[in-house]
Amino acid sequence: MSDLRRLILDRIRDVPDYPQQGVLFKDITPLLADPHAFAAVVDELAGLYQVDKIVGIEARGFILAAPAACKAGAGFVPVRKKGKLPSETLEASYDLEYGSATIEVHRDAFVPGDRVLIVDDVLATGGTACAAVELVRRAGADVVAIAVLMELASLKGRERLDGVELHSLVIV
Ligand code: PRP
Repeated sequence: MSDLRRLILDRIRDVPDYPQQGVLFKDITPLLADPHAFAAVVDELAGLYQVDKIVGIEARGFILAAPAACKAGAGFVPVRKKGKLPSETLEASYDLEYGSATIEVHRDAFVPGDRVLIVDDVLATGGTACAAVELVRRAGADVVAIAVLMELASLKGRERLDGVELHSLVIV
């Protein structure tokens, strides 16, 4: 196993029955609290692809995407839960592992043809990532790939991505 994978896996805490009974929550706060591990993750994400913009998905995606964009010399674009962005938006709805939600992006967030990397902490069912891909494309940009810190393989989110490249730093 690579040093980076070990660094990440050793700093993800399993929390049983959160946010509801029967769900084993993967808590990344121990990883974020370790400056060496956090920096290693950000550096890895920043170096994966040559892109114009990095999209982060609210909320935990922001934590990784914003520093990665800075480091990569790319712009940062927030995809937010409905009602949080101030200007004109595009929206997409999706099912979550628990519940459903709508996310939005500013309609003018991209220059046509921008190359975009979408970053999030976790890929579970893939619903959020699919909706984010749809938003970026509808806003006129090209999705180069999706990168996540952690892919939950049992939920088969990868299969929903319809050919979009997925880079997972760890698969659990
Ligand atoms: C979590 C996670 C991903 C999404 C993955 O976000 O950060 O964005 O779920 O699930 P999926 O692949 O099944 O769609 P959540 O909606 O819990 O929001 P948060 O980051 O604000 O806690």
